[in-house]
Amino acid sequence: TSFDHVTIVVFGASGDLAKKMTYPAIFSLVKNGRIKKDQLHVVGTARSKYAADEFRDKISAGLKGNDELTVKGFLERCSYVSLKGYEDAASYKDLDSEISKLESGSGKHLRLFYIALPPSAFKDVSENVRKSAWPKDKTNRLIVEKPYGKDTKSAKELSKHLEEHYSEEELYRIDHYLGKDTVKCVLPLRFGANPTLAATWSREHIQYVTVDFKEKFGAEGRGGYFDEFGMIRDVMQNHIMQWIVMFGMEKPKSLSSKDIHEAKLKFHNDCLPVKPEDVLVGQYGASKSDPEKKAYLDDETVDDNSKAATYATAILYVDNERWRGVPFVIRAGKALDETRTEVIVHYKSPKDSLFATEEGSTLTIRDKPDKTHTLSLFTKKVGSGFKIVSAPLVADFGEKASPLLKEEYVPTAYETLIYEAVQGDHTWFIPRQEAEEGWRVWDDAIKGTEDRKPFIYEYGSAGPKEEAEFLKKYGVHFGTGA
Ligand code: BG6
Repeated sequence: TSFDHVTIVVFGASGDLAKKMTYPAIFSLVKNGRIKKDQLHVVGTARSKYAADEFRDKISAGLKGNDELTVKGFLERCSYVSLKGYEDAASYKDLDSEISKLESGSGKHLRLFYIALPPSAFKDVSENVRKSAWPKDKTNRLIVEKPYGKDTKSAKELSKHLEEHYSEEELYRIDHYLGKDTVKCVLPLRFGANPTLAATWSREHIQYVTVDFKEKFGAEGRGGYFDEFGMIRDVMQNHIMQWIVMFGMEKPKSLSSKDIHEAKLKFHNDCLPVKPEDVLVGQYGASKSDPEKKAYLDDETVDDNSKAATYATAILYVDNERWRGVPFVIRAGKALDETRTEVIVHYKSPKDSLFATEEGSTLTIRDKPDKTHTLSLFTKKVGSGFKIVSAPLVADFGEKASPLLKEEYVPTAYETLIYEAVQGDHTWFIPRQEAEEGWRVWDDAIKGTEDRKPFIYEYGSAGPKEEAEFLKKYGVHFGTGA
């Protein structure tokens, strides 16, 4: 890095995100030599009290399977400071002096604050960090986790609050989907040397686009957070939206951060607000075969009468020349029969086709369960006559990928983004206006469905059976993309 010393301060260090994502990501950056161990300090902080060793044990649980010596070396760079409360100004002074004790040596220093905390703590922390732990003689940056508010109004309030304390340059609004290869690959596919795709990328040839986001697990253990947010806020407004932007946006003038942000914002601007009548919501009930798989409402942290959606299907329209009239059909659900995240571009079947099929070819970009691109083309079945079949041309970027397609070291999404924040590269973080625009698109859909009784589907099933009827209206279906 361009710094001689890097200190990463993790707020919410006792939480799930820190253990599962943040610490493993920082560890891997060190293990792979992107940040030198002796250059780094990681200061964890939260309200819980932990002795240093106790805290290190907690983190090391997330680092299992790695070489013990490497883990030990990393843990030596990790310390923990407990705060009396997030609103307690004195705690931040203590934190600052703890950090200062670690930061010795001449050269350039970076302090990178990572707030992995529930939204309720966010204002206090960001304000106090700025007041007490943001030294003028060092470079300081703040990574802001999702959720960025819960609607346009609260997002704007949050922006205003941040603006009072920080410049936009100092802020890194993170959406880990922008650290995924399966999201960013859409840019070279569309804007690289693939005239076949570029020439057909519009409403003239594309009938609709589906986005599937299916998870096998429920909201277990996260009810407290999830119940207030629900599926649309949890993943559609941010992760899925960011993925769609890659498929939908116009070509940026260049790959500079500014030009990419401009093109992304323009696409957001062109999205029409999703209408409540174009949304179906569901909530999982108990599994009939597995007593372990309880209903959403059986979660202790969830209100008994909660109408929170753990499943939603929504139709998004984009009002511009390229996309007018093309539905983006989005489905996201928890506690389903499979884990699958993919986007499928469904082409039209040309009217003058000599080998008519009901629908045209498809292009599938999949993140889970495998990392593949699949272009399905219609061709002749081998044998007599002209029997037409859809044949998948598959490129595999997963475990068994050819070294031509995949580097040996593949950083996780969090790793990629944390490193980019260390480098001061904003390209794959979300600018203020875009964060707010994302809510404009979803506000009506959220407000218009939050009092609606969700369709109940069984834990481990394919989702609400009412969905089939709903999709018929739009003449679309999800399919498996081969
Ligand atoms: C998180 C959501 O931001 O993203 C979770 O809060 C979701 O509910 C997760 O499971 C999905 O991320 P990934 O990388 O596993 O697709």
